[in-house]
Amino acid sequence: MEILRTVAELRHWSRQERSRGNTVGLVPTMGALHAGHASLIRAARIRAARDSSGSVAVSIFVNPTQFGPNEDFARYPRSFDADCALAQAEGADVVFAPTVEELYPAGAATFVEVEGLSDRLDGASRPGHFRGVATVVAKLLIAAEPDRAFFGQKDAAQVAVVRRMVADLRLATEIVVCPIVREPDGLALSSRNVYLSGAERAQALVLSRAVRQAEALAASGERHASALIAGVRQTFAAVSEIRTDYIEVVDWATLEPVEIAVPGTLFAVAAYVGPTRLIDNAILP
Ligand code: PAF
Repeated sequence: MEILRTVAELRHWSRQERSRGNTVGLVPTMGALHAGHASLIRAARIRAARDSSGSVAVSIFVNPTQFGPNEDFARYPRSFDADCALAQAEGADVVFAPTVEELYPAGAATFVEVEGLSDRLDGASRPGHFRGVATVVAKLLIAAEPDRAFFGQKDAAQVAVVRRMVADLRLATEIVVCPIVREPDGLALSSRNVYLSGAERAQALVLSRAVRQAEALAASGERHASALIAGVRQTFAAVSEIRTDYIEVVDWATLEPVEIAVPGTLFAVAAYVGPTRLIDNAILP
C-alpha cells in the first residue's frame, strides 16, 4: 500500500486509476482508526468490487481548522503506523497523509462555509467546526475527485453539512453514509473514547441508552419531538456526572428542529462525560 504525501500525488494517483478504468472511493479520516473506520473502508472496498474494478484511498489528516482554540487538537490521538496497518488490512490501495502546510499553504485564506447548517447541533457548541470540516472535505474531494466518499452516520450533522456542500459546489462525488458501529454494550465507537476513564466509560453508555429509548418510543408510535426529548432528558438527568449538550429531533437535511418526527428524521444527542464531548444518534423508524 502506497503512502501519498502531497495533493499532486493524490491527484496523479486518482487520475491514473480512472484512466485505467477504475472507480475511486475515498474514506476521509483523522486517523486513530477503529472498527468504525474499518467498516467505512470495507464498504468502499465492497462498492469498488461491485464496479468492474475500483480503488480505495484513505486520507489521514488531523485537520486543525475544525478544532476550536480550547479543544483537543494537540492531544487528539495519533497512531499513524497502526492506522496504515488497519487501512491495508481492510484493502485500501493508498493512504493520503499530508502535512498541515500541504493542505493549508502559507497565506491560505479560502474557506468553505455552509451557512445555516453549520450553526446547528455540534456547530452550535463548536463555533467554526463545520467551516473547518467543509473546507478540508472540499480540498480532499477537489484533489481526489472520487466517485464516492464514505462517511459514518455517527457524525450525522457532519454528513448533512458535507451533502449540502457537495450539492452546492456541484461536486461529482456520491456521499455514502455507513451505519454507526457500536461496542457490544452499545457505546458508539469514537476516536475520543480513549479519553474516557473506566467510570466515565460506564457513564457514557447513557448516550446509546437515550438513542435506543427514542427509537423505541418512535417505533411504538410516539411522533411528537417534545415527548421524545422529554423522555430522554430524564434518562440523562439520572446520570448526574453527565452534562447534556443537546437532545434534538431534526430534519436530517436541514438540521432544523421538527415538531413531528417522520421516518428518516434524525434524533441526535451530545453530552460531556467529564471533559470529553460525545455524540450519538439514530435515524428514526
Ligand atoms: O469525521 C472526521 O474524521 C473528520 O471530520 C473528517 C471528515 C475526516 C474531516 O476532517
